[in-house]
Amino acid sequence: MVQTASVGGARPKATVRDDKGQFWLVKPAIATDAGNIPQLEHAGQQWGAASGLDFATTVFHPSMAGLGAVRVLRFDRSGDRRHMCVSAASLLQAEYPDDLSQAERWSYPRLADELRLVGAPPQDRIELFGRMVFNAVCGNDDDHVRNHAIVYRAGERRWRLAPAFDVVPNPVETPGRLHMQLCLGRFDISRETALVDSHRFGFSGKAEAAGYLDALLGRITAGFERIAHWLDPAPRRALHERLTHNVAVLMGGDTRTGKR
Ligand SMILES: Nc1ncnc2c1ncn2[C@@H]1O[C@H](COP(=O)(O)OP(=O)(O)O)[C@@H](O)[C@H]1O
Ligand SMILES: [Mg+2]
Repeated sequence: MVQTASVGGARPKATVRDDKGQFWLVKPAIATDAGNIPQLEHAGQQWGAASGLDFATTVFHPSMAGLGAVRVLRFDRSGDRRHMCVSAASLLQAEYPDDLSQAERWSYPRLADELRLVGAPPQDRIELFGRMVFNAVCGNDDDHVRNHAIVYRAGERRWRLAPAFDVVPNPVETPGRLHMQLCLGRFDISRETALVDSHRFGFSGKAEAAGYLDALLGRITAGFERIAHWLDPAPRRALHERLTHNVAVLMGGDTRTGKR
């Protein structure tokens, strides 16, 4: 894993091919991890899918020591066939992580604009909105511009938002901000920031976006019950608490009681 070329990213990883000829990325635990990152990544990916969002398929491989690896299906391959991909860093012409002066380009609404410009269908912008909300709820504040991508679907002859990948709930704390802006100039997680630029994701108005947001929060809450078994007791409790807190924040209610 150290000596061969990697697809990139911060963590060590290797590509493997299964007996059906499909390519997967394998991402193992490393000694400096603040928690069981492969388990958290698998839970995050499963949770997104259980919430009705388009998340890359993952398989969790536990190991004897309690840490393991997560295996992620590659969306840039179908057997030997390669699919062109472009990262959000390229789409937004934004460097990560070096150039803080470009932080205004790290933005979900801007990425939604780019999806429209490359000809992706309207549902991809709604999907992006859903991922922004999901990242806010699960506390994935590593949602930077190299963790979003588009992929060219030759069968459709158009670019599509790639499945979500590298969605890992923060193992240490519940973040109050995301890495990309939710609305113009603002990174903080709130109902207001989630909704104020909703027209850029293709919603007809704030009412439609609010209805979608509330329904999605219900799906994310129900989804957690279905995936919680993947988590050890301590992270399960922590994530359940985080879910309750963030759903209340995004419902625009009282964060202490969880009531609206
Ligand atoms: N499922 C996938 N299919 C194709 N490319 C992927 C997939 N997951 C990640 N990548 C690419 O590999 C890079 C590193 O993977 P990532 O999961 O983000 O690892 P890290 O945790 O090291 O950041 C990503 O920035 C993306 O370009
Ligand atoms: Mg990454």
